[in-house]
Amino acid sequence: MGSVSLKIGDGTARFKRATLCTSAVNLLMILSVLTTNLFALYAFNYSPIHLHLHAHNLNPHKNISLISEHVSLILREIGSSQKKLAKMEKELLGYDTIDISRPNIASELKLFLQHHQLPLGKDSRTGITEMVASVGHSCERSTDLLSQYMNYKVSGSCPDDWSLAQKLILRGCEPLPRRRCFAKGGSKLGLLKPFPLSLWSSVVDNKVVGSWSGYGCKGFDCLSKKKLSRECVNCFDVGGAENQRYVKSKGKNDFLLDDVLGLGSGGIRIGFDIGGGSGTFAARMAERNVTVITNTLNVDAPFSEFISSRGLFPLYLSLDHRFPFYDNVFDLVHASSGLDVGSKVEKLEFLMFDIDRVLRPGGLFWLDNFYCANDEKKGVLTRLIERFGYKKLKWVVGEKVDAASGRSEVYLSAVLQKPARG
Ligand SMILES: *[C@@H]1O[C@H](CO)[C@@H](O)[C@H](O)[C@H]1NC(C)=O
Ligand SMILES: *[C@@H]1O[C@H](CO)[C@@H](O)[C@H](O)[C@H]1NC(C)=O
Repeated sequence: MGSVSLKIGDGTARFKRATLCTSAVNLLMILSVLTTNLFALYAFNYSPIHLHLHAHNLNPHKNISLISEHVSLILREIGSSQKKLAKMEKELLGYDTIDISRPNIASELKLFLQHHQLPLGKDSRTGITEMVASVGHSCERSTDLLSQYMNYKVSGSCPDDWSLAQKLILRGCEPLPRRRCFAKGGSKLGLLKPFPLSLWSSVVDNKVVGSWSGYGCKGFDCLSKKKLSRECVNCFDVGGAENQRYVKSKGKNDFLLDDVLGLGSGGIRIGFDIGGGSGTFAARMAERNVTVITNTLNVDAPFSEFISSRGLFPLYLSLDHRFPFYDNVFDLVHASSGLDVGSKVEKLEFLMFDIDRVLRPGGLFWLDNFYCANDEKKGVLTRLIERFGYKKLKWVVGEKVDAASGRSEVYLSAVLQKPARG
């Protein structure tokens, strides 16, 4: 305790409290052990003399109800001190959203979540006194999966469990805790093509991807023939049809990249592509010296690995997550049907406000072939966009016939310019 009293500032108080807490927990543990032992002592060494002290009953041997009353009292006492103990452990670890005092929690998870006091007390620049591990609060709803995820050999190879990790993310457990294991190896040196050749290399060795477990396809050949989503129809076939996107128009909803770039005042240098498939938008932009970050998860395909093998920047993040960028940083945000985040209007609103936040004034929001399932969806989106006061540089509502169903579908494409707000 000597060194503790030398500390000054906020850190001291916290440290002392932590020390006090530890002593209290120790005391409780001792108490709990004591009660348990006393109970055992009482149960096995129980004699008439003992009982005589407690009850003024002349026929103690026969009074079972008195004994069971005592026993239940003791059990209640043990139970409540165990609860107190768990509560104190929780407080000590400083984590209130995830109950790590419950059984079957991986010890790595406890360790990761532990708060760490800054060694020199309060940091004068940031005002923080402790380091807190970053983990999504929704992880609490999936603690079993989370514990499974945190069950691994420290300093060994991580289990082949990318799909477990993604499952957690899709359940809102984002960010995931860090782990102390080595991720499965991806690309071997020499397999990657140099930039800009890498942008359109259709043959990417399967070794670029660490694990194909959990995917329907086990290679890129198979993937290049697949329709994985509205945005990704054969989108891994970068030597084929995918090569035409943004440079050849298939209809009035398809704007050409150079036309859109011509609309950007003050130049388009950096951009963000939401739900960007295999990264073709970023590839075309890279050829024009525009750096684009492609937001993607690995749903049904190793999008992240593929995008990075093209020499582009994949951002592995769900759309429920606040974009990890500061305000007004992008010259351009590109999105298509991936923007459709469900039926709740508010959910779309939160997303739109976040897009608006990261886009600089004068920057462009390119809504590219947004699928309007019905008139209501179109109305909701239109009204929402109008509330933001963007200038409509392009606005096209068009119909396309879906090849599979033969039905006519409505799409909205627009290029909108963010206004300067006072
Ligand atoms: C046993 O103890 C209880 C509680 O003290 C008392 O109410 C009851 O009369 C006693 N029974 C006998 C058989 O002595
Ligand atoms: C991109 O940048 C390089 C190097 O500065 C330059 O040589 C090239 O002309 C640029 N390309 C375009 C399309 O602006």
